[in-house]
Amino acid sequence: MAILNGSDKETAHKVSESFNDLMRDKFIALDEDKCHFIYQLIRATGATNIIEAGTSFGVSTIYLALAVAENKKRSNGAQSKGPGVIATENEPSKAATARKHWAQCGPEVEAEIDLREGNLLETLSKDLEHDVDFLLLDIWTPLALPTLKLIQPKLRPGAVILSDNTITAAKGYKELMDYFKALDSDFRTLTLPYSGGLEMTVYSPK
Ligand SMILES: C[S@@+](CC[C@H](N)C(=O)[O-])C[C@H]1O[C@@H](n2cnc3c(N)ncnc32)[C@H](O)[C@@H]1O
Repeated sequence: MAILNGSDKETAHKVSESFNDLMRDKFIALDEDKCHFIYQLIRATGATNIIEAGTSFGVSTIYLALAVAENKKRSNGAQSKGPGVIATENEPSKAATARKHWAQCGPEVEAEIDLREGNLLETLSKDLEHDVDFLLLDIWTPLALPTLKLIQPKLRPGAVILSDNTITAAKGYKELMDYFKALDSDFRTLTLPYSGGLEMTVYSPK
């Protein structure tokens, strides 16, 4: 079981502060083809408990919510109740815009999303009731490994982790990749050839 230590949190806070200022008004969303792949993957795996690390204006979240809603319809009520997607955003203005986008999509989408506003290292540190099937790591790279370590105890065996732009942001992702690829790692990982790289990792504890 991975443990998130104080210095992980401190590093993540410090590195992200100035970057957050710069990125506050930037409309960033996963490429459309990546969103389609993620939708299909969630449908194929039957995932119903998803965490999105980094939500921004809520574009990728819509695909996550639609896929979970479909999975739930087909599981004859066997799945857990309540929203299937935990979204995370620390910029209040982005969170507000995301909520507007989801409202435009309708109740099927809105009902599947639990948006946690604030620093995800805090908001994801409690109230994770269910094992996690799927983690989308679409967050500033210094937060990627601390976030993974925070969620790792809740990952179910076979859970999928997708991390965006692992080729173009290889330097920033180095610690995460070293963790995934360590000899004693509980993860198996490969880089999919989407623009910028999309890392698909499976939690495979021994
Ligand atoms: C790459 S964007 C997410 C894009 C979104 N997944 C999409 O495809 O539509 C990353 C987001 O993470 C947010 N973020 C950065 N640090 C955060 C933190 N500590 N806690 C929560 N959100 C954070 C940023 O404000 C930014 O909106």
